[in-house]
Amino acid sequence: MTTLGTPLSPSATKVMLLGAGELGKEVLIALQRLGVETIAVDRYDHAPGQQVAHHARTITMSDPTLLRALIEADKPDLVVPEIEAIATPMLEVLEATGVVRVIPTARAARLTMDREGIRRLAAETLGLPTSPYKFCDTLAELQAAIDAGIGYPCIVKPVMSSSGKGQSKIDGPADVQKAWDYAMAGGRVAHGRIIVEGFIDFDYEITLLTVRAQGADGRIDTHFCEPIGHVQVSGDYVESWQPHPMHPAALEKARQIAKAVTDDLGIGLDGQYTGLGLFGVELFVKGDQVWFSEVSPRPHDTGMVTMTTQWQNEFELHARAILGLPVNTGLRSPGASAVIYGGVDAAGIVFDGVDEALRVPNTDIRLFGKPESFVKRRMGVALAFDADVEVARANAKLAASKVRPRAA
Ligand SMILES: Nc1ncnc2c1ncn2[C@@H]1O[C@H](COP(=O)(O)OP(=O)(O)OP(=O)(O)O)[C@@H](O)[C@H]1O
Ligand SMILES: [Mg+2]
Repeated sequence: MTTLGTPLSPSATKVMLLGAGELGKEVLIALQRLGVETIAVDRYDHAPGQQVAHHARTITMSDPTLLRALIEADKPDLVVPEIEAIATPMLEVLEATGVVRVIPTARAARLTMDREGIRRLAAETLGLPTSPYKFCDTLAELQAAIDAGIGYPCIVKPVMSSSGKGQSKIDGPADVQKAWDYAMAGGRVAHGRIIVEGFIDFDYEITLLTVRAQGADGRIDTHFCEPIGHVQVSGDYVESWQPHPMHPAALEKARQIAKAVTDDLGIGLDGQYTGLGLFGVELFVKGDQVWFSEVSPRPHDTGMVTMTTQWQNEFELHARAILGLPVNTGLRSPGASAVIYGGVDAAGIVFDGVDEALRVPNTDIRLFGKPESFVKRRMGVALAFDADVEVARANAKLAASKVRPRAA
């Protein structure tokens, strides 16, 4: 049974989000609607989620001492990682000593924090199909891995990076040095490890949002959303749509892979399958062949489309699942999302044309309220629904293009 309290009272159900960007902001809004007391943590002040939470905290979340002190002071019932760059070994300690529950599990947060943990789990422990890969610490190792079988083309990524940072494709021997240097400059922490992956010539890629939620009998059930198609430019998502049509055999394989990996990430320190929440499982598809790429144990950026396509969007699904509540992953209408980039490097920017954007039929927009804009920073998203997913895609892109950010 789930019992929820009253915020800002001794009975409060308290949830702490580690990371308060645009995805965390929507999770916080969903939690607020259930009367949950929310604490939004980020590395800078006035992060999007901090603007809608009961409490805002600014710390370096990769610092284990600071992280522990904050959790011990605020005493949340649940800690919900929204980003990867967190002192996850400390979360494991706090979970093991019963200080807090981590969503979905502290172990999942650690395994998905860099590409190595999750890739080895998926490919080597679970035997799921992935691109061929090798981890390397030097340029010489990278060249040797390519020569020994990865081949060309291939993709190099820092083990600690997201949104395509430091990631590049190698088409031939002339690109190797450049890809190595680019990865070294783009990693999240200053150490040289990279993954090199054989290039998968997929027909399309999807995100399969997968939810582990409590059933009436106390068992945890796995629910799937309709597949989300997306386009990535330089490793960063620019548009997504739902549903993406799939051959039934490919969809079945995609679900099996998603179930296997989310089941495993749902295993807590006690060895029980207790982890709850939503996952974004990234898959490559060619014909009826499916490869696992990576997984976020939390809402996924391409899943922002669900704010216009589902009865319960991915943030509401996450909020419900982690509180032990039932979920509904049903589709309300096909739809699409298109990213609104900053386009300028400036603080406190303004957005012209929001009215024009919203005149495009069946559209909506979110502006995240980030204090500072960069040319390639995601500042908002346009959403569109339509019975025809292609019309929705065109309208989402059109609406996004009408929003014109500029320095104030
Ligand atoms: N082995 C591969 N073969 C073909 N394309 C790939 C491969 N690996 C990555 N890509 C492409 O690059 C995109 C980004 O890769 P990946 O998801 O690993 O990086 P990321 O930095 O974690 O991105 P994000 O944080 O946006 O999910 C993929 O969605 C896919 O389009
Ligand atoms: Mg990805």
